[in-house]
Amino acid sequence: MEMLISVVIACLIAVLPKLYMKLIIGVCKSNADLSGKTAIVTGANTGLGYATALCFARRHARVILACQNAEKAEKAVMKIQKTTGNQNITYKVIDTSDLASVRKFAQQIIQEEKHLEILVNNAGIAGPFRRHTTKKNMELTMATNYFGHFLLTNLLLDLLKKSSPSRIINVSSSVHRWIKLDLSDLMLKNFYNMHKAYASSKLAMVLFTKELSKRLKDQGVSVYSVEPGTVRTDFFNKFPPVMSEIFRVIGVFYFRSPEEGAQTAVHCAVADDVIGLSGHHFAECAIMEDCAQAKDAGIAKKLWEQSEQICGLNEN
Ligand SMILES: NC(=O)c1ccc[n+]([C@@H]2O[C@H](COP(=O)([O-])OP(=O)(O)OC[C@H]3O[C@@H](n4cnc5c(N)ncnc54)[C@H](OP(=O)(O)O)[C@@H]3O)[C@@H](O)[C@H]2O)c1
Ligand SMILES: *[C@@H]1O[C@H](CO)[C@@H](O)[C@H](O)[C@H]1NC(C)=O
Ligand SMILES: *[C@@H]1O[C@H](CO)[C@@H](O)[C@H](O)[C@H]1NC(C)=O
Repeated sequence: MEMLISVVIACLIAVLPKLYMKLIIGVCKSNADLSGKTAIVTGANTGLGYATALCFARRHARVILACQNAEKAEKAVMKIQKTTGNQNITYKVIDTSDLASVRKFAQQIIQEEKHLEILVNNAGIAGPFRRHTTKKNMELTMATNYFGHFLLTNLLLDLLKKSSPSRIINVSSSVHRWIKLDLSDLMLKNFYNMHKAYASSKLAMVLFTKELSKRLKDQGVSVYSVEPGTVRTDFFNKFPPVMSEIFRVIGVFYFRSPEEGAQTAVHCAVADDVIGLSGHHFAECAIMEDCAQAKDAGIAKKLWEQSEQICGLNEN
């Protein structure tokens, strides 16, 4: 009897979270077809980026996987081609933490692609345990998650405008609500921890979306920031070993799959009912109320101006 009760309780512990997830997870119900459209997804060789690229491929888009590792990218391209039958899938190398690499990538795209309808700024890291800097002395998390995408988006903007209606989707995270962005220390020199680095980069993403949507008003390019929920991906493998193992075990029961996590980004990229909602933040395929800082247009504008300087954008 006790045995039976234990088994039942164990089953409930395993099954209830899954059932709950099924209830709350937003699913993109649009069946929009993307034939004739081109999409770029950064960090698309695995996790959410891969799942997003796969969804676009199923909808017949041309998809360019923007990845830092050619070997992994090539494998992902073949897997997507095989799974979907869509052969119009390719990759290009980009290191979003390296502004020179971002420039090179954008140049190639501008030369080779006639149009670009969807850009998903997805590549991201959790923030290493200790502060790391890039060759150019930028804090690694801010560079990878935010500055690289700031520059990339700006460099591809003319192509996106030319291809309007087009859409930009920034993959943020709910943790952006838990931080106050320090505009005087964007490279986290004065105080660093992995949470602060990650949350700051994700808040910067949301603020960037706001300011960009203002700047793109009436130009046929819509921009959205999305949060995927907590998703079983390689993301947590980069945590310190013990933490990473704990997340792996919890993740089996409590995290969603990459396909489920990608739904909101896909929804913002394809659905008709988000047109006119540019600049908004989405979760579970629906608009989500902004946090106080995300509403502060002053911060968004200042962040934009500093980002332009840091990325050397106003020099051309
Ligand atoms: N998982 C979650 O619960 C969760 C929750 C909220 C938000 N997010 C966000 O969702 C996005 C995707 O995360 P994920 O969970 O799918 O993580 P993931 O499985 O670790 O995938 C991250 C992707 O980004 C790429 N990447 C990392 N650094 C890069 C760089 N410098 N240049 C180019 N590509 C780079 C990785 O390439 P490699 O494979 O070569 O390392 C990988 O393709 C991230 O922005 C993350 O912040 C995730
Ligand atoms: C690939 O996609 C592009 C853009 O969507 C389209 O113009 C082109 O015809 C496609 N090529 C093939 C071989 O399907
Ligand atoms: C996306 O984020 C980039 C920087 O990370 C920013 O430049 C761009 O304006 C943002 N776009 C949207 C739609 O959020």
